[in-house]
Amino acid sequence: MKKIKISPSILSADFSQLSSEIKKLEEAGADMIHVDVMDGHFVPNLTIGPPVIESLRSHTKLPFDVHLMISPVHKYIKNFSDAGADIITIHPEATENLFESIKHIKDLGKKAGVSLNPDTKISIVEKYLNEIDLILIMSVYPGFGGQKFIPEVIKKIQKLNEIKEKNNLNFEIEVDGGINFTNSRHVIEAGANILVSGTTIFKENSGDIKKNIETLRSI
Ligand code: DX5
Ligand code: ZN
Repeated sequence: MKKIKISPSILSADFSQLSSEIKKLEEAGADMIHVDVMDGHFVPNLTIGPPVIESLRSHTKLPFDVHLMISPVHKYIKNFSDAGADIITIHPEATENLFESIKHIKDLGKKAGVSLNPDTKISIVEKYLNEIDLILIMSVYPGFGGQKFIPEVIKKIQKLNEIKEKNNLNFEIEVDGGINFTNSRHVIEAGANILVSGTTIFKENSGDIKKNIETLRSI
């Protein structure tokens, strides 16, 4: 039975209380913290950068699952690594040389993730799957929390999982965007083992984070 990991997105957290919010997530049983970094250029929204990650680093032992929605991304990878990111996930469209960027992340001793937008084909990463630790399948167009899950991505998760099993590869499949108590089971059955969630975890059941994490994991 595969272990399902939950990576709450702090984009939906109270940004004025980030350290206590991540402590609450840790106590509630989160497996990692999903940090959405946005530059207002690659996506039409601006959030946080390395200084915030650095200041949060000592407040939790959980891995920082850093999702870089920034372009160009290559020259900033080391900043996020130095700030305390554990998983650094980039979008292929944001680098001139995807292999070099993946290699750079791994040379820094971090896990390398590649994120595929709903309209980005698996073929863009297929030849690098051996080098990649994690594929982040976007089930919304990146930029904002609280969007509606795009059901067409289920087929993409299934296809990626088939490639993984056929070639006996080890990368993890993480799904991000609009995950809720209904679609999470379909996402897991399709082959995902890490669920990102912001709105469902922070807002459902009057914000009972522990209950929401347990519900997502148990489905
Ligand atoms: C969107 C981000 C997602 C988002 C998830 O660009 O990458 O991580 O914060 O939030 P929900 O779960 O509310 O869709
Ligand atoms: Zn994200």
